[in-house]
Amino acid sequence: MLAKKYQYIFQNCRPFVISNGANLSHFNMSPLDGTIEKSEQFDCLKMEAAQMFDLVQQCDQVSFGDQGMAMEKWVMFDCAAMPGAIVGFAIEANKLDQNYLKLLKVPKGYQGLVPVSFYMAIPTVEKGSWFGHNLSSLGNRLSTPLPGLGLLTKALAIDVLQIKTMYGATQWGSVAIKIHAALAPMQLMSAYTPAHTHPMSLCYKSNYDRKSIQDVMAQKERVLADHEVLIHDDEARIQALQKQIEAGEKWVLLDKPWREKEQWFYPIAQAAS
Ligand SMILES: CC(C)(COP(=O)(O)OP(=O)(O)OC[C@H]1O[C@@H](n2cnc3c(N)ncnc32)[C@H](O)[C@@H]1OP(=O)(O)O)[C@@H](O)C(=O)NCCC(=O)NCCS
Repeated sequence: MLAKKYQYIFQNCRPFVISNGANLSHFNMSPLDGTIEKSEQFDCLKMEAAQMFDLVQQCDQVSFGDQGMAMEKWVMFDCAAMPGAIVGFAIEANKLDQNYLKLLKVPKGYQGLVPVSFYMAIPTVEKGSWFGHNLSSLGNRLSTPLPGLGLLTKALAIDVLQIKTMYGATQWGSVAIKIHAALAPMQLMSAYTPAHTHPMSLCYKSNYDRKSIQDVMAQKERVLADHEVLIHDDEARIQALQKQIEAGEKWVLLDKPWREKEQWFYPIAQAAS
């Protein structure tokens, strides 16, 4: 059973998916507590998807513009909608406040769905395995904020796309790590990543199953095993950890980080290789 804050989101938002028609038939359209109706399934190869696609791009611009990581429209098409999918929550335009409509540059008179969050993921060559490359939630920009929207959006995408193994890259210090680590322990595939725009990025791998995702959405806590605490801006330790990983050691971020003053603290532990 979903915790109350997630039920509230399902009561006030509509789940949606954007992909191409051939992919759509492979997805689970009855995820978590909801159903994705035909009118909420957008085929990026059809003209009728154009407006929703533009609004998702604007959502991305608002979320990532200030980090220099906003996507060109062709990247959304080539690297998300065509090979994989964009899954999120939306609200009908007439139920949204003017400030939000302005923020998303919603055209006057538009009556359709306006995205408030999304997750983008692409399948990799490993069977059942995906790379999640974008998570955005504007839940705190609404006149009635939607706490929990970021976490619920990723859980929704996992269930729609039936993801068993997820890879992703994110920056140490990003709030999003709280979401990724809440859903499952994260094996650190890299701790310091010079190939990324931001070298202080980690790349992770997580395994999901329906039962454990349901437990997270019911807000059941995991028991935390013995761990070391890593601080988000300790570049020396993070580079040393990268060397340990490259030498074959397996390191896992066990659970959600916590924040004190301006620093994030991560419970990490070495696992058997
Ligand atoms: C990161 C982001 C997706 C979080 O969305 P959200 O809707 O606020 O997420 P949730 O409400 O589900 O919050 C998840 C947790 O993070 C916490 N949190 C949210 N914003 C926070 C902040 N600014 N500082 C500290 N903690 C925060 C919440 O309290 C919650 O903690 P809990 O599990 O202990 O209750 C959203 O802020 C965003 O889109 N940011 C810009 C884009 C970005 O950086 N994306 C991540 C790329 S990998």
